[in-house]
Amino acid sequence: MHFAVTELAPAMAYKLLSSTILPRPIAFVTSLNADGQANAAPFSFFNAVGYEPPVVVLGFTPNADGSQKDTPNNILATKEFVVNLVDEPLAAQMNICAATLPADVDEIALAGLETVPSLGVLPPRLKASPVSFECKYFNDMPLSGGGRIIVGEVLHFHLRDEIISGLEPLRIDLNKLAPISRLSGSKYGRITDQFEIERPK
Ligand SMILES: Cc1cc2nc3c(=O)[nH]c(=O)nc-3n(C[C@H](O)[C@H](O)[C@H](O)COP(=O)(O)O)c2cc1C
Repeated sequence: MHFAVTELAPAMAYKLLSSTILPRPIAFVTSLNADGQANAAPFSFFNAVGYEPPVVVLGFTPNADGSQKDTPNNILATKEFVVNLVDEPLAAQMNICAATLPADVDEIALAGLETVPSLGVLPPRLKASPVSFECKYFNDMPLSGGGRIIVGEVLHFHLRDEIISGLEPLRIDLNKLAPISRLSGSKYGRITDQFEIERPK
């Protein structure tokens, strides 16, 4: 079957992308608004897209009423955010923070999350996250439908000690990191089955 974008409703394009590009990592983003109010929300239009400097990309869709989400508003206002990765114990709290709430609601407190001060940016990181990236705004691009792509430059990496199984070279124990990923709709995935293919020289 073939779908031409010119004949597609945006909701169908979303469905085609989000149910075929699988699994997607989840960025549980902490940010502050211009008044210093903390916010946390998950985003799976997310990935690493370069390492010199290390950069991550986030894709934001507008709220159902057409307004911009708090996270992109905060990043554009303060130029700082933290990406916290999500493991299974953090999944329920991550989901609480996906509710559409007024900008003045502190989702971090609502979900009962503890935070730790960051080293190089004002938004705190999440204590329960196995990996956090402190980021500063790098670039952004508006999309015609009201969405926005924001690229962030990573300033500091925080990794829970127990997930590091070697330092030279760096080795991460995937079973201890145990990230969850977004599948389509309300489904999530675990990385419990792996195989190897040696890359040709
Ligand atoms: C696992 C998961 C992934 C999500 N990914 C995205 C995403 O990539 N882009 C987006 O705009 N919304 C995404 N959402 C929805 C936002 O989390 C939701 O709209 C949230 O309320 C935004 O919060 P904010 O207004 O505080 O930024 C996702 C929700 C969940 C549960």
